[in-house]
Amino acid sequence: MPTDPADGAVFVHHIDEPALGPVVVGEEQIRDRIATLGDEITRDYQGRAPLLICVLKGAFVFMADLARAIRLPLEVDFMAVSSYGASTKSSGVVRIVKDLDIDLTGRHVILVEDIVDSGLTLTYLRRNLAARQPASLDVCALFVRQGNQKTQEELRYVGFEIPPAFVLGYGLDVGERFRNLPYVCEFQGPA
Ligand code: IMP
Repeated sequence: MPTDPADGAVFVHHIDEPALGPVVVGEEQIRDRIATLGDEITRDYQGRAPLLICVLKGAFVFMADLARAIRLPLEVDFMAVSSYGASTKSSGVVRIVKDLDIDLTGRHVILVEDIVDSGLTLTYLRRNLAARQPASLDVCALFVRQGNQKTQEELRYVGFEIPPAFVLGYGLDVGERFRNLPYVCEFQGPA
């Protein structure tokens, strides 16, 4: 059985793969933090039914857990953007690959992001969603990479600030792989 990486003990990855480096955030830490975020959103949105917008594909695991940690009536919708292609470097170019189904007019929107790196994706998305006249618009990001932001975006809810290394798991991929890891670890392969 793998030991919980939060203990600092040796962690055996549940996939035998040399690209998987040290664990950055363990399964239990993620679970606990999402429970807290869910409590905060439940308290902050009392009397309102938020619309959670998942930015595919990276945020799908986070959003599924976050939605279940919020004790309010809510709705979900999905949007897909492409910013990196198959590489690990930001191109700065954001393209909507799949748009929302639900009209945002008058809705209390929470944009659910996997990780904010340069912040370029978020800046683009926030502007795009704000133009659709929601009643309110907050951002909930599971990870923020320390010191890399090129834009100053207000992030109302943040799970973890993480160090500079590229990470994988819990929805995050490299070349579409490793999204199914239940924890987040460093990527040790070629970028
Ligand atoms: P930004 O536009 O530079 O902030 O990049 C944000 C997007 O890049 C995220 O939504 C992810 O899809 C992807 N990304 C950034 N850092 C990582 C990482 O460490 N692992 C996997 N995907 C990442």
